[in-house]
Amino acid sequence: MRIDIVTLFPEMVEAVLNTSILRRAREKGLVTFRVVNLRDYATDKHRTTDDVPYGGGGGMVMKIEPIARALDALTAEACGAQKPRVILTDPRGRQFTQELAREWAKESHLVLLCGHYEGVDDRVRQHLVTDVVSIGDYVLTGGELPALVIADAITRLQEGVLGDQEAPEKDSFAEPILEYPHYTRPVEFRGWRVPDILLCGHHAQIARWRRQQSLRLTRDLRPDLFNRLTLSADDLKLLDEEITVPPKSRKHLPVTSESLEETASQQERGKDTDGTRTRDHS
Ligand code: ADE
Repeated sequence: MRIDIVTLFPEMVEAVLNTSILRRAREKGLVTFRVVNLRDYATDKHRTTDDVPYGGGGGMVMKIEPIARALDALTAEACGAQKPRVILTDPRGRQFTQELAREWAKESHLVLLCGHYEGVDDRVRQHLVTDVVSIGDYVLTGGELPALVIADAITRLQEGVLGDQEAPEKDSFAEPILEYPHYTRPVEFRGWRVPDILLCGHHAQIARWRRQQSLRLTRDLRPDLFNRLTLSADDLKLLDEEITVPPKSRKHLPVTSESLEETASQQERGKDTDGTRTRDHS
């Protein structure tokens, strides 16, 4: 896939594209990024890309001619192939979502045009682009960050960009459900212990706990998404269930100062340590 980004700040865009997973995807040739300096398509000696607004008022407006020239050049380069989708970043646009990312990830060529200043001559929106998109209801200083957000969300969906373990099907929003919580070592930090269920090695119970956490998080943090979910009978049961470490798996649990204290206090109270319930971290 090819993604062109047309911008007044190429260094800013290149810096992000040359970092981490985007850089790796670029180096492996899984995606071709092309950063285009809009000033290269200005024709006057000052390389002007903006002008005062007709009708007065403050601020500057991005001119149509350099944009048209840049877009013409990029479209001509696509020679023979399908015309690229040309996306203008603008807070008035349609909301960018994971669904849109999945749809656009199937395209062979995207052009992202970064808006700036007070706005872009509206004839660009009317005649030169195919889509106008916003990354959220807030106004940024320019369209570079939105374009990078879009490029990132689309790149990670390209085959081979993420390893198997990070497979995009497992993402939040693949199904409209939030991801379960993750933990790594140490098992205990400042007395905050990783949920025992993740330490017990019982993979079926771990999978059920993760699904439960996803469901509960979505219900509590994003009721809008939760209402769109189709819940199975098992999901409904899971929501209220208390998932415990199976007695046979308790021996795999690592001993920490906290679990020692817990065991001691249980013994004091004359309780059996086997089959006791997992600490509730939900
Ligand atoms: N330009 C400035 N703010 C923006 C936003 N929220 N989305 C897209 N483009 C923008």
